[in-house]
Amino acid sequence: MNRLVIVANRVPNPRERGATAGGLAVALKDALTRREALWFGWSGQIAEATAAEPTELRVGRITYATLDLGREDYRRFYQGFANGSLWPTLHYRLGLAHFSREDHAGYRKVNAAFAAALAPMLRPDDTVWAHDFHLFPFAAELRRLGGRQRIGFFLHVPFPPGGLFCALPRAEELLADLAAYDVIGVQTEDDAGNLREALAGAGQAEAAARVHAFPIGIEAEPFTALAEKAMAKRETERFRQSLVDRALIIGVDRLDYTKGLPQRFCGYGQLLARFKGHRSRVTYLQVAPVSRGDVAQYRALRRELDEWVGRINGAYAEPDWAPLRYMTRAVARPVLAGFMRMARVGLVTPLRDGMNLVAKEYVAAQDPDDPGVLVLSRFAGAVAQLPGALLVNPLDPDEIAEALDQALSMNRAERRARFDDCAVSVRQDGARAWCRAFLGVLEGANDA
Ligand code: G6P
Repeated sequence: MNRLVIVANRVPNPRERGATAGGLAVALKDALTRREALWFGWSGQIAEATAAEPTELRVGRITYATLDLGREDYRRFYQGFANGSLWPTLHYRLGLAHFSREDHAGYRKVNAAFAAALAPMLRPDDTVWAHDFHLFPFAAELRRLGGRQRIGFFLHVPFPPGGLFCALPRAEELLADLAAYDVIGVQTEDDAGNLREALAGAGQAEAAARVHAFPIGIEAEPFTALAEKAMAKRETERFRQSLVDRALIIGVDRLDYTKGLPQRFCGYGQLLARFKGHRSRVTYLQVAPVSRGDVAQYRALRRELDEWVGRINGAYAEPDWAPLRYMTRAVARPVLAGFMRMARVGLVTPLRDGMNLVAKEYVAAQDPDDPGVLVLSRFAGAVAQLPGALLVNPLDPDEIAEALDQALSMNRAERRARFDDCAVSVRQDGARAWCRAFLGVLEGANDA
């Protein structure tokens, strides 16, 4: 079988196996164990200047090749254009987007540097698969250097309606860049429709035909096993004891303004204000690891959340009860899986989300006999696969409060029925199926 080359801004640390690995690394695990693979991208390190040649590390059949980014490139490419322009625009938040020609030039420059560093390592029959919004121009840059390989692209975040996307300066150039990919994957049919419309509007009708939806999933079975195993852990037991029989609501998100956290905290406050019977009977744990802390909007969000936590705990706490427990550190997956299993409610209310795998993990973590309830934003891509969830508009704190009350009061029969409706697709449409579906289209039916 030919080699698979994964290109992504983030490259997993090969020393951090399994438990701490990031989402993409987990999703690609199957594809990466079945064939020889090269994983190429940023080293996570910042240097004086962007390296021209990657540092290589081989572990088993996978070679990791990474580049340090120069300080200025990091600022322009990653903080500036990727996180400051594209991220908010793709999440429908044009008002938060800023644009500068220098950032845009830095974004192009790093994509060109990635292509130049990878090109000499490529074999003619490699399959190249680039991931996410950092890499719109990557294939175009590689083609410019003579690259003739099959190159696919998967966008992990949403794609907004064409009119919105095209308000971003240089949007048409980005769309023309995308046309250099052989297959363009997105998470949902809505995203696919939006992207096709944008491409057609930019005179790239041919590329529009290469856009397909491939909803990403998780490998449910190992996650269920992790959750079951976690129940015997000391950490889980200590946490359970600290709850003293109170129902647990859990939220797990990167600390990001797309996740709807202030509105979610406000909604929980509304629950305690309006449905007084839950006071002292429920605990909400929000795990929100700090992300992109050097971007101003993320720092502002963190301060806002600190205020919310103080306000809610200040208003409702009892000497022996803190209604909201909030941590900005990550919790290791094997522990988190147990916390999810314990939680009567999984609260996932992003304002927009490409997919949201936490929603699927929450379902996979449940005890099918006595499962919890998923309260889910109608604007998460995962909605299509989770028909048993209670859907909310994440901008409406009262709707969140009402859904929480409904979930906390729900009888076991209804919880089981709703769980069954969600579990079917979570188990069936896993990460492995996602990978095979994408590569099947990219590589053609004969060698899928
Ligand atoms: C989202 C994006 C990923 C990104 C991750 C973490 O899930 O889709 O591409 O890697 O956030 O963000 P970071 O900026 O730390 O890579």
